[in-house]
Amino acid sequence: MPVLCVVGAQWGDEGKGKVVDLLCEYADMVVRYQGGNNAGHTVENDRGKFALHLVPSGITFPDVVAVIGNGVVIDPTVLRMEIDELEGRGVSTANLKVSGEAHLIMPYHIMLDHIQEARLGKGKIGTTGRGIGPAYSDKTSRQGVRMQDLLDPEGFRRKVMAVMEAKAEMMAKAYDQDVSSLRADCERYIKAAESLRGYVDDTSFLVWQALRAEKRVLLEGAQGTMLDLDHGTYPYVTSSNPVAGYACVGSGIGPVELTEVWGVSKAYATRVGEGPFPTELHDEVGKLMRDVGYEYGTTTGRERRCGWLDLVALRYAARINGLTGLAITKLDVLNTLDTIKVCTAYRYQGQTLKELPATQASFAQVEPIYEELPGWKSDISGVRGVNDLPRPAIDYLNFIVRQVHVPIALISVGSQRQQTIKVPHPDSRSAE
Ligand code: IMP
Repeated sequence: MPVLCVVGAQWGDEGKGKVVDLLCEYADMVVRYQGGNNAGHTVENDRGKFALHLVPSGITFPDVVAVIGNGVVIDPTVLRMEIDELEGRGVSTANLKVSGEAHLIMPYHIMLDHIQEARLGKGKIGTTGRGIGPAYSDKTSRQGVRMQDLLDPEGFRRKVMAVMEAKAEMMAKAYDQDVSSLRADCERYIKAAESLRGYVDDTSFLVWQALRAEKRVLLEGAQGTMLDLDHGTYPYVTSSNPVAGYACVGSGIGPVELTEVWGVSKAYATRVGEGPFPTELHDEVGKLMRDVGYEYGTTTGRERRCGWLDLVALRYAARINGLTGLAITKLDVLNTLDTIKVCTAYRYQGQTLKELPATQASFAQVEPIYEELPGWKSDISGVRGVNDLPRPAIDYLNFIVRQVHVPIALISVGSQRQQTIKVPHPDSRSAE
């Protein structure tokens, strides 16, 4: 692998956690490169079941160095909690390294996130309410507080309180917000942040050293391509760049270091929050996907919107990320369906589009054009070899490969790590 980047190829929640966990067996280092505790992944392996938001999945492997890169925004109370939970269950965090350049989420970011959403009313984004957007805004407008500021405890407190005062004044005056809790909340956050000082490191240097030593490095994205700040369904996006290009920025390596980019996609599609979703289903099939796939947000518990696989969007993800492999997850969720629809093109103003339209306004109006394929009507959750899959399942996977022009590297048929089909040969990674 030397440097393999794993990205979400849809709207997030594709099952990247499981894929990264599997790949960690072959990795020496795993780097989370963007997002914050808006993400969440549940990892189930022989060390137990872990719900993680910030700490990379690799932490459960004693020999893997787990890095939170500079592109991530960190809520210190959440990171503290995750570390305590891991340590409490016997998982050492000695190998956890946090970039000194990563920015911190503070209570005023969370307050602002809620205010902004409330003000948008019906036009809200449907954020996770974790302060992600305001924290990235402060980063860009150079008012952010970073992990490395912790190395000067007095300076750190001064900086946080100064920004807090300014934000409190703005929120009270402009939005008539009750800000009386902010000072005490900031004290709690400062305390949590200070307890993390020992984890701060020069992580881009650590990654560089690992690369020079020919170690295998895994770059882990959060959210998905369609939620990318630049390339997603703006403004219904997150405030960072989940795409592979940002893996270099968010971990501090040069672009030519990437050797492979895997896109993770469910065998169907889901989305949480607002925004266009052409293949969304409001019927019994959508409900079945939600029930069987347990499609509820790991972070917020919100119901996920469900729909058919959108190959126009997946082709787009393949292009934007330069995908070299696909990991198809949750294929088993479709076990009981008589037929499976898959979107191969959009209809827009009487025209057939094979690519995403150039503007958001038009994307919100496209209608999916479907092909209908036979279902396999059997339980595939115990299948471990690609050739043991029922013919209609193989046909479905091959259809995806032909449409997206990216080979399948891995298929997941259940939440357990052994419920995985590895497609072994890089040159023949179609499901055939
Ligand atoms: P934010 O990232 O909390 O600002 O939310 C912006 C949009 O991204 C909302 O539609 C969220 O539902 C969505 N979002 C953020 N993180 C995730 C995730 O990990 N999975 C799926 N959707 C997410």
